[in-house]
Amino acid sequence: MSKYVGSIDQGTTSTRFIIFNEDGEIVADAQHEHEQIMPKEGWVEHDPMEIWEKTVRVIEEALEKASLKGSDLSAVGITNQRETTVVWSKSTGKPLHNAIVWMDMRSQTFCDKLSAKVGGRDTLQEKTGLPIVPYFAGTKLKWLINNVETVAEAVKNGDALFGTIDTWLLWNLSGQKEHLTDVTNASRTLLMDIKTLQWDDELLELFELPRSILPDIKPSSGKMFDVVEPKCLEGVPVSGVLGDQQAALFGQTCFRPGDAKNTYGTGCFLLLNTGEKPVLSTHGLLTTVGYQIAGEKPIYALEGSVAIGGALVQWLRDNLGLIKNAPEVEELANSVPNSGGIYFVPAFSGLYAPYWRDDARGVIVGMTRFTNKGHLARATLESVSYQSCDMFEAMEKDSKVKLKSLRVDGGMVENDTLMQFQANMLDTPVVRPKVAETTALGAAYAAGLAVGVWPNLEKLQERWAVEKSWEPKLDKEQRERNMLGWSKAIQRTYGWID
Ligand code: G3P
Repeated sequence: MSKYVGSIDQGTTSTRFIIFNEDGEIVADAQHEHEQIMPKEGWVEHDPMEIWEKTVRVIEEALEKASLKGSDLSAVGITNQRETTVVWSKSTGKPLHNAIVWMDMRSQTFCDKLSAKVGGRDTLQEKTGLPIVPYFAGTKLKWLINNVETVAEAVKNGDALFGTIDTWLLWNLSGQKEHLTDVTNASRTLLMDIKTLQWDDELLELFELPRSILPDIKPSSGKMFDVVEPKCLEGVPVSGVLGDQQAALFGQTCFRPGDAKNTYGTGCFLLLNTGEKPVLSTHGLLTTVGYQIAGEKPIYALEGSVAIGGALVQWLRDNLGLIKNAPEVEELANSVPNSGGIYFVPAFSGLYAPYWRDDARGVIVGMTRFTNKGHLARATLESVSYQSCDMFEAMEKDSKVKLKSLRVDGGMVENDTLMQFQANMLDTPVVRPKVAETTALGAAYAAGLAVGVWPNLEKLQERWAVEKSWEPKLDKEQRERNMLGWSKAIQRTYGWID
């Protein structure tokens, strides 16, 4: 058997295909961005056809770069931006609307009505692990059915299929035959019972949704089917599927209860492995399925989710033109010794964990005539770390575990200034692994495990190695002063939307 595994990493801003060897090293990769469609304030869409076309393109390009054929791969894994919702026609295979992206807020009214009906936003927490907020896929599906005639009609006629991006890719990879998802993605819909790992009849009744439009739920690591399209991958088994944050948890080999990682991507997502039992949060975190290996019990995680992390750097680049490319933000931030007393809270899609305030909007506070763009760049980086501190604190309270270090990954972990500030503010060492592409690696691990490229979790754990770590260097007093300023800034974001 060949020892290469391919991983499709379909993220919020781009799609990648990475080929790993049996040592978990990258052999080749290809990446393409896709359009962010923003029809109005608070709305974000993707074109599912563009996503599929780019997926095919990156697969072809990476295979070519590696001088490999599809048949040289033992398995392929998929990891994806979670919650982003697609509805398509079973008969034509074409989307009935653009995908509604995870950070899109349009299902707010539906969520408010549903919360009022069931007696509060947290009423479904015990069953689903989640609050009733627009972030989750089931609410976006309802918006599509309630507002797009072609979708409503297709649902009535039995021609509609719903899926998150994993499901959309699986459908296309299988030659438009298989309608499947995995437990991690299904746990982000508000429609699955996190204990039974099945769509829940009561929830389907509450959301008024027919079971027939939902995919079948499978484990994250286990053989699903052999690829039909694209032809260059024909016959390769698809055997690993995880939402991107759970994939990063897997790629960081956080297999023991108490292991945690923080990914700095478009948003920031802190996940803590809590073992075989779901732990319900009382501090604004989500309970989610971490992963499930076929034939084994599921492993759960507590999750802190922040909507705007790296996206804030893109905003400085694209909306303000302050920097030409993302890495430039560090240089600009280092042109000043500190943020000059300003705080930037990027509550562009409201505030997610641990606050869950839909009425919040972004603020920059503390500016004076002295403030310059260096301070703004620094406050941008600091805001990413302050938001992570809020999640970290909630995590420690919920789990009653003092985290000894934090494993980090994602695009922003190349930024030394941010990582040092993060260690300072957490008062905890921050650790970056040798393979920083942990999201794609996690899906590859899940896929490779299922077909025997890797024998067990222990062997994967042995491979994890530190590349760099940052020790905390800030005194308690300053840390507390910083956090106080941050919490005052958070208060200023509330109440901008009725
Ligand atoms: O829940 C949304 C998350 O899956 C998006 O991840 O890496 O695309 O920011 P990312």
